[in-house]
Amino acid sequence: MTPKALNDHLTWRYATKKMDPAKAVPQEKVDAIIEAIRMAPTSSGTQPFELLVITNAEIRSQIAAAASGQAQITDGSHLLVFAAWDNYTADRIDEVVQLNVDARGDLPMLQAYYENLKAAYLPRDAEENYTHAARQAYIALGVALVAAAEQEVDSTPMEGFDPEAVDAILGLKERGLRSVLLMPLGYRDTAGDWLLPMEKVRKPREAIVTQIA
Ligand SMILES: Cc1cc2nc3c(=O)[nH]c(=O)nc-3n(C[C@H](O)[C@H](O)[C@H](O)COP(=O)(O)O)c2cc1C
Repeated sequence: MTPKALNDHLTWRYATKKMDPAKAVPQEKVDAIIEAIRMAPTSSGTQPFELLVITNAEIRSQIAAAASGQAQITDGSHLLVFAAWDNYTADRIDEVVQLNVDARGDLPMLQAYYENLKAAYLPRDAEENYTHAARQAYIALGVALVAAAEQEVDSTPMEGFDPEAVDAILGLKERGLRSVLLMPLGYRDTAGDWLLPMEKVRKPREAIVTQIA
């Protein structure tokens, strides 16, 4: 059997509305999705977010309550929470520098590059730095959605939740993190999901592509 092309995976996936609570995603599939998130590119390679992988039913029901009761959070088997750095700090950037030194040696320009980055980021508002970090989490979410589809695991990208409530439930503030995105993983309830039989809705190519030759 020929493997599915990427666009076939993208057509197969959809923002699942009803998951089957009886089916759990196997650990190796969850691991493949987590690895894709770890490998996602980020600006200057800072990877300014952390991932929480939650199976605990009580915590997931508290989070669902902070997300308008969206049932995928509790019906799925795993909940991924993308939590971005609340700010860039010298320590956080120095850790990235050290990671580079460990992997590649202390190359010329490395220190200068990250000193420039610190000079640009550290004087900025925490909020501006947080939104920059959050954008990096969105890139990883995109990669995660594709990785889940490749594993034939259903998922729902979610920003429809109260981030402050989720931060409090997970103790993220104390860790210098802020919740950005949720992504429940599970398996579609083929009989119970109203969205499954519906056509995909996408703009035509000419509405979003300008060709400049
Ligand atoms: C960043 C982001 C946040 C979203 N938040 C929610 C959400 O909170 N709840 C939900 O059911 N769907 C959410 N969606 C799903 C979108 O509505 C959906 O991806 C879009 O309509 C395209 O449909 P498809 O993913 O089924 O192809 C979100 C999607 C993205 C990319």
